[in-house]
Amino acid sequence: MSVHVVMNQKGGVGKSTLAMNLAAVKADVMTTPGTNDGVSPVLAVSIDPQGSAVWWAERVSELPFRIAQAHDNADILRGLSDLPGVEHVVVDTPGWIGDTPGSTENGASGAALDAVLSSADLVIVPIIPEPLAFDPTARTILKVLQPRGIPFIVVINDWDPRDSRIDLEQTQAFVKSQGWPLANTVVRHYKVHSRAAAEGKVVTEYAANRVGLQAREDFQRLCLELEVGTR
Ligand SMILES: Nc1ncnc2c1ncn2[C@@H]1O[C@H](COP(=O)(O)OP(=O)(O)O)[C@@H](O)[C@H]1O
Ligand SMILES: [Mg+2]
Repeated sequence: MSVHVVMNQKGGVGKSTLAMNLAAVKADVMTTPGTNDGVSPVLAVSIDPQGSAVWWAERVSELPFRIAQAHDNADILRGLSDLPGVEHVVVDTPGWIGDTPGSTENGASGAALDAVLSSADLVIVPIIPEPLAFDPTARTILKVLQPRGIPFIVVINDWDPRDSRIDLEQTQAFVKSQGWPLANTVVRHYKVHSRAAAEGKVVTEYAANRVGLQAREDFQRLCLELEVGTR
């Protein structure tokens, strides 16, 4: 049983993309076809009041995992590691303003953020290879994760392999200079990801063409890396 929380106070870094697709590849290997009465042991929970993960999930015809929207049900969120029939939970979170997610300026979702952090086994912190993302990422780690002693790993998302490697290398150097754990897997930029929510697809359902398979490979590698590293 594990609870992974995808978190970064900056919006647009790929929290929902990582949460949905990690849930999809995990469900893909954890679900035996024809068993479980179609009920997946993988649950994605969104505590983002804007609910983009749920909006996305509603468009997927055969979602390979379960999804729930939670608002400020702090008791449920503290008990995520103890839900019957659930073996893996991925939590998608909203961005927030300031240094304390639980402060009143962040509304009900602030309390929800505090609650999920208490049940997190691992926090996945997506970062995009742009200097503008560095500061909010640093604040998330320094003000929220490290003071609570929660294990975390930074994952570089949305690097376009057609660009030079400089942005990627600068981002890797930044994360390493801070002494933070960094995933070896880089989730590359593919247009198919940005269309996925509207088209109602998760990565396990992408077309099996070259781009679709490369896009899927990133999430399978990341999922494997997280398994190996958190055992
Ligand atoms: N690796 C990627 N390749 C292409 N588009 C991406 C990738 N990651 C995220 N996006 C797109 O960037 C936007 C922001 O991603 P999202 O997951 O919604 O971020 P967040 O949840 O952190 O706000 C979305 O339109 C999403 O489809
Ligand atoms: Mg989101």
